[in-house]
Amino acid sequence: MMAVPKVELHCHLEGAAGPALIRQLAERNNITLPETLFTADDRFAWADFPGFLSTYDDASQAIRTAQDYRDVTYAYLADCAIEGAVYVEVMSSPDHAAAAGLSYEAHLEGIVQGIDDAERDHGVVGRLIVTCVRHFGPTQAMQVADQVCGSPHPYVVGFGMGGNELVHTFKDFQPAFDRVHTAGLPCTVHAGEWAGAASVNEALDTLPVQRIGHGVRAVEDKHVLERLARESVHLEVCPTSNVMTGIYPDYDAHPFNVLRDAGISVSLNSDDPPYFATTIGKEYEIAGSRLGLEDLDLVQISEDALAAAFVDEQNRSILLERIRRN
Ligand code: ADE
Ligand code: ZN
Repeated sequence: MMAVPKVELHCHLEGAAGPALIRQLAERNNITLPETLFTADDRFAWADFPGFLSTYDDASQAIRTAQDYRDVTYAYLADCAIEGAVYVEVMSSPDHAAAAGLSYEAHLEGIVQGIDDAERDHGVVGRLIVTCVRHFGPTQAMQVADQVCGSPHPYVVGFGMGGNELVHTFKDFQPAFDRVHTAGLPCTVHAGEWAGAASVNEALDTLPVQRIGHGVRAVEDKHVLERLARESVHLEVCPTSNVMTGIYPDYDAHPFNVLRDAGISVSLNSDDPPYFATTIGKEYEIAGSRLGLEDLDLVQISEDALAAAFVDEQNRSILLERIRRN
């Protein structure tokens, strides 16, 4: 799956560090992580979605310094580049950084260094979407929005929200999204993952978003499917994440092709690679072997992802050339 140039739009940085790196950072920072975070064969331990979020929140506490954020970013981008990725948008969570004692500026400085080092060494272009966390609530979300607007950086190309979709409403986060959108940053939001098609509709009605993280459950309502196509909303689809968290029992049941056939722009993404035993390369490979896509379809998916990316226009056209040249 090396041959097709890949574009990733949906990967959580704190969820991109595997058990080995998390243990290494914990040791470097002299902290002891609960052994319950890991399985006997050294994977992250979680049983269901709330359990996943909780393990993720705890493991990310090992990422405590700007150097740690640099190392996590660099390791992830380098791995993506080795698998043929040309452009990667990562999401970071200043709330997780703050809980580990790190300022917004320090977390950003580390990520920027990781992006620069990865481009220098591996030629991959990385950019950052700063996210708030739904289950941390609207007040913290507004603080993140303030930080994003207060310390603009050319690599911070968007704003988003992850976390538990079953708490709070989109309306609660409208002020935070409006704040960054008014400042000129494009937005994306997780919806239609743990809640149904109505959540996708509600996100589009309420928030200034051009993309939706997941959005797969839009297939449960044909009006929502039609709306996504009509309004050219891009879906950042994460097939293996959806299978591993149990939204779909297997790849055959995954609606990736239903979304594509409805004329919706979709990309392939890894979400939290070590948690779901995946990588961006594996997502493309699975799309070929399990979802029936040909290489030409995969190249088109990379082009569609790049068209929906929050990168500046100059880099977009350089990257498009790189995808087409291959
Ligand atoms: N944060 C990290 N991964 C997530 C996911 N799949 N859904 C919601 N929030 C997340
Ligand atoms: Zn996600």
